[in-house]
Amino acid sequence: MLEAVARVLVGLLLAWLVWSIPKPARRLRQEELRQQAAVSHFMQDVVHNVLLAQQDYHTLLPQLAGAPRASARDFGPGASVDCRRGADGAFAIVVLKRALFSQLTALSTAHFSKWAVDPKAERAALDALVTALLQHVDAQRYVDARGRARLLQLSDCIYCGLGMERGAPFPMIHTDTEWDLYPTCDGFQVWYLLAADSTVPAEANMLMVESAASNGADPPVAYHFQPDGSVLRARNQGANAPTPGAPPTFGRDNELLDSHGSLAACGLSFRSLDMVPGECMLMNRHQLHMSDPRPHAAGRPVDRLALTMRVILKPPGSNEATALLDKAAPAYRGKALPRIIK
Ligand SMILES: [Fe+2]
Repeated sequence: MLEAVARVLVGLLLAWLVWSIPKPARRLRQEELRQQAAVSHFMQDVVHNVLLAQQDYHTLLPQLAGAPRASARDFGPGASVDCRRGADGAFAIVVLKRALFSQLTALSTAHFSKWAVDPKAERAALDALVTALLQHVDAQRYVDARGRARLLQLSDCIYCGLGMERGAPFPMIHTDTEWDLYPTCDGFQVWYLLAADSTVPAEANMLMVESAASNGADPPVAYHFQPDGSVLRARNQGANAPTPGAPPTFGRDNELLDSHGSLAACGLSFRSLDMVPGECMLMNRHQLHMSDPRPHAAGRPVDRLALTMRVILKPPGSNEATALLDKAAPAYRGKALPRIIK
């Protein structure tokens, strides 16, 4: 009798174990694996090579050497960023809970694996991240059904262009093209450090840039450093790579906003992100930034890993029928839109 009960219990235990082990998601198809490998290659190698070919940084690099560092200590736990769409560039670094680090690390591992990402787990991880950040977002007034002021909530948010960026892929001063898609919206973007660079972590994060030439009325912009030392400020249309085999254009083929005789004339200043994994930088849509170009200039590979995403805030009073996405945005003419999660 006892033996029969023991068998049943063992059977139940085994059944529970089989049931409770997370089922692997769908294995990626060959085409998806090829696409994933291509994106990885693009982020780690092609982007910085082709983008750097379009820039002459001989005047810029000496200035970066003395850039002060920005860390979470400079902002404190109550940090807040003005995320209204017309605000000049602003950012903050915040320390988030350790549990979130495990959740987001698992998400990035899933993104780089041969298994399809579980959409529910992905959404839960992104929601947890954004929930932790909303308290640091200064936005316009939102009201509840009775007209009383309320806090921002997840239902106000649209996620745009989730990326797992290994390397230092965008070593040019810019604001992101994705904002072109939402011209009427406030919002912020997220740069969450998952893994520090294993070689020189102090020179592998991002540089935050201030410029007397840019302000909160700009479209997405990119700065182009010319061999003669002058600097062009152009619309960032996400097409800054030279035509294969052709000489670099140094951005002269983009829609020009203005030009400056020298780096000094742009009034540029830089702060280097001094962060450890688990910390998050959030910035508004007009905060200029660039991947640190110094590792590339020194011929060093970069393996730091960051999660990036833009969080679009639906304007107060807008509803499902409100058209927020501008599909005719100049930066996306003839191109695929980034991934959008509503
Ligand atoms: Fe960017």
